Amino acid sequence: MRGVEQIPFLYDAMCAVLEATGLERWREWLVSGAKGRTLDVGCGTGRNLPLYASDVFVVGVEPSKDTLAKARRRAPTVPLVRASAEALPFRDGAFDTVVSGLVFCSVPDAAKGLAEVKRVLKPSGALRMLEHVRSTTAWRARWQDFVQPAWTAIAGGCHPNRDTETAVRQAGFVIDPETLRARDNMRRFSAHAASSANGASTPAQ
Ligand SMILES: C[S@@+](CC[C@H](N)C(=O)[O-])C[C@H]1O[C@@H](n2cnc3c(N)ncnc32)[C@H](O)[C@@H]1O
Repeated sequence: MRGVEQIPFLYDAMCAVLEATGLERWREWLVSGAKGRTLDVGCGTGRNLPLYASDVFVVGVEPSKDTLAKARRRAPTVPLVRASAEALPFRDGAFDTVVSGLVFCSVPDAAKGLAEVKRVLKPSGALRMLEHVRSTTAWRARWQDFVQPAWTAIAGGCHPNRDTETAVRQAGFVIDPETLRARDNMRRFSAHAASSANGASTPAQ
């Protein structure tokens, strides 16, 4: 599916406006906790990539060819792979951190994608997410349901009405409560595998 998300100049123009009005700080938080080998899943045009600390080894994954080409121009030294979240071409436990910025609204099979994220994360690893989600206000959620088909077609796969926090929990992650921030329909948080040894007592910052 091709839409705004897969047209780099349109997506970047839209993000520039959103970042100037507050999204930039959420992005900075998203990458700030990345450690060690880090997968930026659905890296898009690569807007997160220049923000990582120099001691973080980042790999980006993105299924859209044109979008990936823009990310390559933005971050020429970062290894980038054309692939989907539902079939990540990495071994089990390959990453210390997985970063997802505004991606799981668009992954067609979010449960499969999150299972893959869990597989490629080390058991002690962190999943850091920034997502827009289904509204907790009933009339807004109904509105999101109503506009979803047109929204998804125009945006290029994005669903405005996904309950991503529930999907993350159902995939076997625990959301670290200290990291969870909510503003309107935006969420950002860090999560770890429910069975991980570090447990909720040592959440990521
Ligand atoms: C809203 S953009 C976010 C891009 C980037 N992460 C950012 O923060 O600007 C969503 C991205 O998810 C990508 N995407 C869609 N389906 C995907 C999938 N199955 N696996 C990985 N990424 C996917 C889209 O191509 C798009 O680049």
